Amino acid sequence: MNEKVERTKGFVYIVGITGALAGLLFGLDTGIISGALPFITSAFSLSVKESEAIVTAVLIGAVLGTIISGFVSRRLGRHFAIWASAFIFCGGALLCAFAVNLYMLVIARLILGIAIGLTSFTAPLYLSEVSPKHLRGSMIATFQFMITVGILVSYITDTIFTPSGSWRWMFGVTFFPAFILFLAVLTLPKSPRWLVLVGRKEEARHVLGRVRNADEIDSELNEIEAALSKTISVQELLTSKLFLKVLLLGIVLQAIQQFSGINTVIYYAPTIFKLAGFASPIQQMWATVLVGTVNMLTTIIAIVYVDKWGRKPILYFGLTITTVSLTLLGYLFTIGTHTEVSQYAAVLLVLLFIFGFAVSLGPIIWILCAEIFPLKGRDVGVGVTTATNWICNAIVGGTFLTLVTNFGPTATFGIFAGIGFLSLLFTINFVPETKDVSLEQIEANLLANKNLRDLGA
Ligand code: BGC
Repeated sequence: MNEKVERTKGFVYIVGITGALAGLLFGLDTGIISGALPFITSAFSLSVKESEAIVTAVLIGAVLGTIISGFVSRRLGRHFAIWASAFIFCGGALLCAFAVNLYMLVIARLILGIAIGLTSFTAPLYLSEVSPKHLRGSMIATFQFMITVGILVSYITDTIFTPSGSWRWMFGVTFFPAFILFLAVLTLPKSPRWLVLVGRKEEARHVLGRVRNADEIDSELNEIEAALSKTISVQELLTSKLFLKVLLLGIVLQAIQQFSGINTVIYYAPTIFKLAGFASPIQQMWATVLVGTVNMLTTIIAIVYVDKWGRKPILYFGLTITTVSLTLLGYLFTIGTHTEVSQYAAVLLVLLFIFGFAVSLGPIIWILCAEIFPLKGRDVGVGVTTATNWICNAIVGGTFLTLVTNFGPTATFGIFAGIGFLSLLFTINFVPETKDVSLEQIEANLLANKNLRDLGA
């Protein structure tokens, strides 16, 4: 292999690691709250509503971040958007760590949310535009995997600081990876597709020279120009029945992912373990670390098998597990968790639920949403469905404690189990199998007005 190809490979690797860092921050900043919340609640004597506000502020910020990300990444560039989000991550981490009251904390978390929203839209987009075709899928999957790594690291950080109760350090630690990302982005190239989009073709050629082999540059520039010439306006897209059909599918898929109840566990795991009878914060935190570990390791299984077994069989498998585990968890809370056996059974059921989610809904919904949209509407489609993800996330994150306080854990988990069952029926009837089908074929099937479940046929 010649020196130039080696250099190119090395550079793409650096781009991938930096993109993955963005995923890590996303996971870190969403997960850190679970261990910090009990200490913040007592430090500021918060009510249930106020505690929920702290959790939800990030999610509302993320919705805002996703909404502005289309504009920022188009006008100012994907590269700028990631760099700006790293800057906001740094500022948000410091503001959280030094917050003196509830309001400052809520605002700081809102700011962090904006960074998460910007990153969740822009980093995968940037990675897909800079990576060579054959690495595109794995780069996006790695981003998703790094979110779970970030969640696990946040749980470990929380556990380390739990004995001292230093919630400020829990938040403060997130400053360091954010700062590394801030510096690392400065060394990265701008997206060649964006450069062509804003008429800077020669710069695009120069960037492609750093991330592609010499013989690939001209053909890729031509492909980018051909794809851009087909771009149509948002208004035209939103009045196209066919586009609305897949948009609705993507919206429901993201709603299914969030209303599975995943983030009741991700954000409130220690609270759930407390409900299950584990009185000591350290026990609650170790059980939470176990949740993060299962979440991360199971995501690897999904990444390896999603292209072998297909999307739908894995979704059936995962949704059956999440529905059954939540039903049993609800039942366990009815009979009470007074004995040690029932307490450990509660932990096992939570872990089983996480396994079911991480093997299926976690990665597959993101993959499907990246596959079902026609090229011309991909930005809009992914933007709207990502915003849906965060809106539903905010609804679940913002109501869980109220639901548990007013209706009890049995009814709360029962509701999520019921939604899981309906999601299974929806998957059987409306979700296409896209394994081994090219994006062009999916688009052709859509244009031929095939049923949603046959888009991959
Ligand atoms: C979801 C997040 C969730 C995470 C858990 C992602 O796919 O979108 O809401 O916290 O998985 O690993």
